[in-house]
Amino acid sequence: MRIKVCSFTKNFLFHQQQLQSNSIKRFFGTNPLLRMATQVEVKFTQIFINNEFVDSVNGKKFPTINPSTGEQICLVAEGDSADINKAVAAAKEAFKLGSEWRTMDASARGKLLNKLADLIERDADYLAKLETLDNGKPYKLSLGDVNGAAAHLRYHAGWADKVQGKTVPMDGDHFSFTRVEPFGVCGQIIPWNFPLEMFVWKIAPALCCGNTVVLKPAEQTPLTALYACSLIKEAGFPAGVVNVVPGYGPTAGAPLVTHPDVAKIAFTGSTEVGKIILQSAGKDSIKKVSLELGGKSPLVVMNDADIDLAVNIAHEACMFNQGQCCCAATRTFVQESIYDEFVQKSRELALKRTVGDPFNDSTAQGPQIDDDQFKKILSLIEDGEKEGAKLECGGKAVGNKGYFIQPTVFSNVKDNMKIAVEEIFGPVQQILKFKTLDEVIERSNDTTYGLAAGIITKDMDTALMYTQGVRAGTVWVNTFLSLGPQMPFGGYKMSGVGREGGEDGIKEYYQVKSVVVKIPKKNA
Ligand code: NAI
Ligand code: MG
Repeated sequence: MRIKVCSFTKNFLFHQQQLQSNSIKRFFGTNPLLRMATQVEVKFTQIFINNEFVDSVNGKKFPTINPSTGEQICLVAEGDSADINKAVAAAKEAFKLGSEWRTMDASARGKLLNKLADLIERDADYLAKLETLDNGKPYKLSLGDVNGAAAHLRYHAGWADKVQGKTVPMDGDHFSFTRVEPFGVCGQIIPWNFPLEMFVWKIAPALCCGNTVVLKPAEQTPLTALYACSLIKEAGFPAGVVNVVPGYGPTAGAPLVTHPDVAKIAFTGSTEVGKIILQSAGKDSIKKVSLELGGKSPLVVMNDADIDLAVNIAHEACMFNQGQCCCAATRTFVQESIYDEFVQKSRELALKRTVGDPFNDSTAQGPQIDDDQFKKILSLIEDGEKEGAKLECGGKAVGNKGYFIQPTVFSNVKDNMKIAVEEIFGPVQQILKFKTLDEVIERSNDTTYGLAAGIITKDMDTALMYTQGVRAGTVWVNTFLSLGPQMPFGGYKMSGVGREGGEDGIKEYYQVKSVVVKIPKKNA
């Protein structure tokens, strides 16, 4: 199925917003910079099972929407339990003893992962455009995601023939060793904020360890995962090793989680759904589960910090990717002697942030993902105002098409306000005041979440004291959102279980078999 669409219709009134002195200046009209390159051809819209694109069993389809316009891009095959059953059967068959995948040299698995990285890099421009069309993030961010996905694959390609067991000096007359083995069929469910990157974060460690996969992309953003399936086939992965079933959470995600032939579940998304998944993965079977969930991450700015640098880091830490980051710093704690200056500079920076056409080079912020998120964010902003936080700038929708929201800054935020407690997942910064390090450690930890945290200071003692005290899976010092495939990433508390990336991430995808061989007598 081939459909030609333009991410912006001819009559789209382009609006690049420069928010000045809390007032909005709009520029409507045809944007001369709008690239013709926004013509993106959607090539794959069907379910991918056994290296073939197929319609859903019941023939149903669902729309995927361009968040810049609110208009439908195309229809995508909608999987449900019947399609999940087919996909799991294919993945189970591909994992059968003696299959091509099971008997392949580990180094050959690594080569396949590297080949997939090559193909992603070859098609980087196309993939980035497709991502921007489906997700709304600025093209340059999409390109960053695509390159990040390739790097993630290469890291795991290197591990494929280095995942290994040990010999163990067990008591008695034994020769004992451990073998590391894949789980089998892994069910993976991903969100819409980093569609291609999340796809790769899930499949790379699974395939590196020799598992097979059934993955459900987010219903908002199925397109890049489906295109990547064509690259998986082109790379030469055996049929059934990776299967992708687009569809909705309760109808396609849930049957994957409860399927008796699925041995492991990996999920990234909301804490609310994470809890449901953890329970249903233990209902009729016992599955290995890893979850990467929400956050309300603190970023602490000490009074010795370079204030301009700190303002910039804190701004990006919160606003990056339209504020749609699980590890976004949405509680900026600033020490009292620099608080007022910090707030003023943060406001100035937010007012300068350009919002508009994500295909435009000068755009820093595109639309939110969908109408639900758009409404949720605006409603939380209203709550912030009602509860007495000071709206420094922003707070409103931008334009009347698509899901654009002004970069928003709140000061005078108190710990118990809804905007300081709930994950907003939008471009909304909360700035809180604190006096001492001990106090800010305690307040940083006063949350059900624990995904990430950060501190900006020139004093390494302070940085390390904070690092030890804060309950979070990642702590950044004098930086934020610095991620790499070599480092494990994941949450404490209700931000999740398990890690992705690094050796710890790989450990989520194998189990250990202990082998004990009786020998007549130890001779060494
Ligand atoms: P969600 O958690 O509902 O969706 C994430 C994925 O889970 C999607 O693929 C969805 O289809 C699937 N899903 C939903 N219900 C399911 C079920 N019962 N069984 C199996 N799979 C299911 O997140 P949603 O509704 O898109 O966003 C809501 C909030 O979640 C956001 O406002 C944000 O706070 C948070 N979120 C966090 C993300 C993260 O990276 N940690 C990513 C996306 C959302
Ligand atoms: Mg979409």
